[in-house]
Amino acid sequence: MKTFTVGNVTETVVERTDFPPKKLKEILGRETVAIIGYGVQGRGQSLNLRDNGVKVIVAVRKGKSYDLAKQDGWEPGVTLFDDLGEAVRRATVVQYLLSDAGQKASWPVIKANLQEGAALYFSHGFSIVFSEQTGVVPPRNVDVILVAPKGSGTTVRRLFLEGRGINGSFAVHQDFTGRARERCLALGIAIGSGFLFETTFEKEVLSDLTGERGVLMGAIYGLWRAQYEVLRAHGHSPSEAFNETVEEATQSLYPLIAEKGMDWMYANCSTTAQRGALDWFKKFEEASKPVFEELYRKVKQGEETARVLDANSRPDYHQQLQKELAAVDADEMWQIGKIVRELRPERQPGAKNPKAAAKGSATAKKSTPARKGRKQAPRKAAAQTRKKKAKKAAKKKR
Ligand SMILES: NC(=O)c1ccc[n+]([C@@H]2O[C@H](COP(=O)([O-])OP(=O)(O)OC[C@H]3O[C@@H](n4cnc5c(N)ncnc54)[C@H](OP(=O)(O)O)[C@@H]3O)[C@@H](O)[C@H]2O)c1
Repeated sequence: MKTFTVGNVTETVVERTDFPPKKLKEILGRETVAIIGYGVQGRGQSLNLRDNGVKVIVAVRKGKSYDLAKQDGWEPGVTLFDDLGEAVRRATVVQYLLSDAGQKASWPVIKANLQEGAALYFSHGFSIVFSEQTGVVPPRNVDVILVAPKGSGTTVRRLFLEGRGINGSFAVHQDFTGRARERCLALGIAIGSGFLFETTFEKEVLSDLTGERGVLMGAIYGLWRAQYEVLRAHGHSPSEAFNETVEEATQSLYPLIAEKGMDWMYANCSTTAQRGALDWFKKFEEASKPVFEELYRKVKQGEETARVLDANSRPDYHQQLQKELAAVDADEMWQIGKIVRELRPERQPGAKNPKAAAKGSATAKKSTPARKGRKQAPRKAAAQTRKKKAKKAAKKKR
């Protein structure tokens, strides 16, 4: 565990080292975990739990997810069920990982089969916090807990296999057994979290819905499009507009922010770029803050969840989604994006690190800015470190 204070808030985070294998076994050794749903989260979390030695069964309706679960080695009638009720009856922990609209639809079956003392586990506060819309109100005789990985289930699995971990939040909503917290934390570590920070179901859903509609996915796409369109309207080529909008961001600058923060990225750019960014960011902040306030308000009032439940419950949702995604793909910005990605040196035949290239991994990303472009950050950073060392040595001599 680590405790730190930032902005007058003291937080304690739980780390993997707090739950070594022996302790995980003590807490989870007698549990049977039923993973309900085999989408990206169900798949990632169940496979990680299984690899961590936890007894897991999977339940999902027959169809695409069910077939994938079979391919992953879950055995029909033994560890794989298409009857959600049967899996819930067999379980001491029920990880409810259907889509949020699916959770609403299947709740009567789950509720009817929950055993006294079971832990009902969510990866999102959605169903519980907006229970007026979802109808999900757990009985008093179960624990209700949450572990919400801060990323896609695909990343949950990928990082686990790489020996790394994705950060997640945890919360206890109802403690019937007196063991809710230790069960929650042990499960959080066993699904592959790197570290866990504490939240509530309400805070989790409000921040998560704001984040994904905002900077993580919605706002960033809106900003990219706006800049791309302005550049194109002023006669810049698709390559130029894409490189200055997306490619340089994802390949050069964002990995630098991830590595050592915003100031480090700024410090390692040209003085021209620094000056411009530091002068202009406030204008973008002022322009977008009212939009974020509107977004947060709509999330809190339940408008967003109502829209999601309505749209995602429609039988033709996936067909409509494919149409929308095809339109994004067909957009000029992403057409040139495909070409630019394919032109990356590491994707060329005979490239030195084709594995990293195929995945677009951090290794491939990190090596890019050093070789090309005007913001040759790592090289510049190394030069700065050398200069500092030389100065120190000179001082000592003096
Ligand atoms: N994805 C993320 O990045 C992420 C991150 C953190 C937390 N979460 C949360 O984790 C939970 C699971 O998310 P997810 O992204 O894994 O969901 P998902 O990929 O949409 O998976 C949905 C699963 O639910 C099944 N399903 C959907 N509707 C159903 C219905 N009406 N009846 C029965 N089964 C149904 C699907 O089966 P079929 O294949 O048969 O449709 C599939 O197995 C959600 O609460 C989500 O908010 C997600």
